[in-house]
Amino acid sequence: VSTLAKEFRRTVRGMRDLMANEAESLRFIEQKTREVSKLYGYEEVITPLVEHYELLAAKLGEDNRKRMYVFEDLGGRKVALRPEFTASIARLVATKMQSIPRPLRLFSVGSLYRYDEPQFGRFREFWQANYELFGSDKPEADAEILALTANLMRDIGLRDYSFKVGHVGVLRGVLNQEGVAEDQQNRIMDLLDKKQWDSALEEVRKSGASTDCMETLSSLFEVKGREPVSISERMGEVVKGYSKAEAAAANLREILTLFEESGLETDVVVEARFARGLEYYTGMIFEIYAPGLDIALGGGGRYDKLIEMFGGEQVPAVGVAPGLDRLLLALQNQGRGLQVSKEQRILIIPVDSTMLGKALKISSMLRQEGLPVELETMGRSVKKALADADRRGNTHAVIVGPKEMKDNKIVLRHMKSRTQDIVALNELSEKLRQ
Ligand code: HAM
Repeated sequence: VSTLAKEFRRTVRGMRDLMANEAESLRFIEQKTREVSKLYGYEEVITPLVEHYELLAAKLGEDNRKRMYVFEDLGGRKVALRPEFTASIARLVATKMQSIPRPLRLFSVGSLYRYDEPQFGRFREFWQANYELFGSDKPEADAEILALTANLMRDIGLRDYSFKVGHVGVLRGVLNQEGVAEDQQNRIMDLLDKKQWDSALEEVRKSGASTDCMETLSSLFEVKGREPVSISERMGEVVKGYSKAEAAAANLREILTLFEESGLETDVVVEARFARGLEYYTGMIFEIYAPGLDIALGGGGRYDKLIEMFGGEQVPAVGVAPGLDRLLLALQNQGRGLQVSKEQRILIIPVDSTMLGKALKISSMLRQEGLPVELETMGRSVKKALADADRRGNTHAVIVGPKEMKDNKIVLRHMKSRTQDIVALNELSEKLRQ
């Protein structure tokens, strides 16, 4: 046989193998995100990993667009691997769910692909849970998304986290009134997302905005703090005269008041100059952070204009996508073990090959009872098999030998206490459940 060249034996750069314990942790978080979807009435939908490039690229923002995995399929279609769920879910709502009564609450979870530069917490294949609420433009819908997110943080056991919150409507409200073109606005938002505030202001100036506007934005960029309600009021004062921006600040105040009243005590930092890379946002935006980690654990916000772009009627929407990989990193960082329940794991050991048939039969019987069973398949002696069972963390061993089998009995060994009993087969599953 010819051997595969060394460079091809590794995973592709940015791609990971998740070993059993990592896979278990990821699935644990996924399970929590699913439980929260049920608690809040979000129904799961499964959309394809491959979509038309144009659909995914539509409002993704320049940076993300450049980082898509794009290729031509064998039919000559320009397709891409999804970099997020929102576009696919919006497509679904615009085309197949038009007649379903609102509100619509949809949940998805799965892997996504972005050609990001690999580094701590940043992978080219990563996982998100995604929650979208369609049909309501009311602040209680935004507050629900914030509450659901806080609920999830609490349920996975993350102690210390905060929300960074802003409002695209305040920034765009000012720029719209100044007549700044949309593509220019997008560039400005992109610079804000990259925390290049001075360059963003410079871009505003280049777009021909008035001195009044420049002053307003400079003061607005300074508005930041931990008292959500008074900070959003302050934002409103700074943008006085820009009517849409004022309304947006009032909207943020309502959202944050409702969220506070929901009682999910969460540290909220409001930052007027905060923007996100995705272009579809129209209202409240937010990201989740944990101390000591400067990468967002999740992000979301309101996007009221995306569905109509996909040919639907106008449907207001708000949503959030927690990143599962980063939630795990944050938990590890806070020294939080996952509360993965360790189930029973039973090993069946035939004492010799004449007992194999009986061992198989007992295995089937126990599995039918819903008990997880592994069979000793290496032909090892009882002693060696028991040593291995210890190493693997089996909770019980069932030793099948001719002497006991004559009376329809087996030896049940409790691995932890290293004790054993002789048990009748018809009492075995009951004994194992004790
Ligand atoms: P996003 O901010 O692009 O938003 O991604 C959300 C989260 O996905 C991030 O906060 C992060 O935890 C995780 N994530 C993103 N890129 C990577 C990466 N390269 N490696 C590891 N984790 C990553 C969205 O995707 C929007 N669709 C969220 C949304 C839903 N807005 C409204 N509805």
